[in-house]
Amino acid sequence: MERLQAAIARAREAREGVGGEPAVRALPVAGAGAEADVWSALPVYQPERGVFEAARLVSMMGGRDGPAFDVVRTKVMHQMKANGWKRLAITSPTAGCGKSTVSLNLGFSLSRQKDRRTILCEVDLRRPSWSKMLRLKERHSFARVLTGEQGFAANALRYGSNFALSSTFEAARNPAETLHGAVVPEILAAIEEEYQPDMMIFDLPPLLVTDDALAFLVHVDCALLVAAAETSTVGQIDNCEREIASRTNMLGVVLNKCRYSGPEYGYGYGY
Ligand SMILES: Nc1ncnc2c1ncn2[C@@H]1O[C@H](COP(=O)(O)OP(=O)(O)OP(=O)(O)O)[C@@H](O)[C@H]1O
Ligand SMILES: [Mg+2]
Repeated sequence: MERLQAAIARAREAREGVGGEPAVRALPVAGAGAEADVWSALPVYQPERGVFEAARLVSMMGGRDGPAFDVVRTKVMHQMKANGWKRLAITSPTAGCGKSTVSLNLGFSLSRQKDRRTILCEVDLRRPSWSKMLRLKERHSFARVLTGEQGFAANALRYGSNFALSSTFEAARNPAETLHGAVVPEILAAIEEEYQPDMMIFDLPPLLVTDDALAFLVHVDCALLVAAAETSTVGQIDNCEREIASRTNMLGVVLNKCRYSGPEYGYGYGY
């Protein structure tokens, strides 16, 4: 545990060394009210009873672990706002560290910020999991959005008035080609132009397994690394930090599944 915390401290130093101008995008301003119309046109997600508990969405369960996650949300939000960053990737060294759990918790937690719009996208095109976690009936595919085959509106649900999620129902046929696609920057910019989100969050595949996540990191302003307290090694975290820092800004490390950090659920956020 101490070694992991030391690795997180090193990540902070490395991050502070990542200088330069933040990647702020100048977006065209949509006509008055136009984005409100596209938001209200999205179909509504109504979670079945028990979904939040089954998916470990502590930020929506009202228990004693919720506030621990809200700390992560607040830190992420403030740091991104301070730098003018709008796109956040969530990744991990290997599979199963808790990327999807953290992404969904962050998204739902942000949905309570009524003055901010958040869009969350499932970019793990090989092993998508949200459909099962959220018991979604829709056969949505963010992969089809990324290739330009279909629009965002046909593959997204709205929760409340200010949070939209675009899931991936089944593994995509050509994940690598999709994520390397030349049209990806254009498509992301078009979604931002139409929906005017304050933040877009992307649940990525693990970094050290394929190059899918590496391909996508160039499209975001910053990345959060989710490490599993008793599984991820210092070497893996170091490796990931280097890969992330060479493509985008390193925002921080969430030390997940951490039994000793106080609250039962265990989210430690390294800065
Ligand atoms: N803090 C936690 N405490 C206990 N269990 C957790 C915690 N976070 C996640 N899990 C569990 O660990 C498993 C993996 O979590 P999750 O699917 O979020 O990880 P992932 O990194 O997205 O995995 P994959 O690489 O397969 O996409 C799930 O069963 C989840 O419920
Ligand atoms: Mg996942």
